[in-house]
Amino acid sequence: MAEIDPIVVDQVDALLAGETNLMTIYANASALLADAIADNNWCGFYLLNKATGELDLGPFQGKVACMHIKPGSGVVGTAFADGQSVLVPNVHEFPGHIACDAASNSELVAPVKVNGQTIGILDIDSPSLNRFSETDQATVVAFADHLGAVLDAISVNAVH
Ligand code: SME
Repeated sequence: MAEIDPIVVDQVDALLAGETNLMTIYANASALLADAIADNNWCGFYLLNKATGELDLGPFQGKVACMHIKPGSGVVGTAFADGQSVLVPNVHEFPGHIACDAASNSELVAPVKVNGQTIGILDIDSPSLNRFSETDQATVVAFADHLGAVLDAISVNAVH
């Protein structure tokens, strides 16, 4: 499977330069990344709801998905709790994996951080086993880091 072209990291900077609307930023970031990744069936965001402490479904490309994930639950909640990217070659072997789309077989997630604080999780699913390489993981982490810098520049905090 083709690796994700790292040019997408530069593209997200260019695409979002000057944008200040949060939904607009997340929506187009998910569209850009989904389009750049062959063989993905879901690509989008779970965003911290500070009032509930849960991760709420944000803008995404893909099928209807679970709307609330608790920190520590599933791949997304684990990444949030640890503040770290998680690469899952086979979701069926990940304890507590949350199956939103039965077609998903592998998954890659990365935290979106502002001022060192995780405010959301970027989540990508694939119908193929072992779809994502460690190089892909580095690219997606860089993408999420650049997105975090865009949010930092418009003074977004953990409240969405
Ligand atoms: N599989 C994720 C849930 C989100 S969906 O993949 C869109 C998880 O285990 O956290």
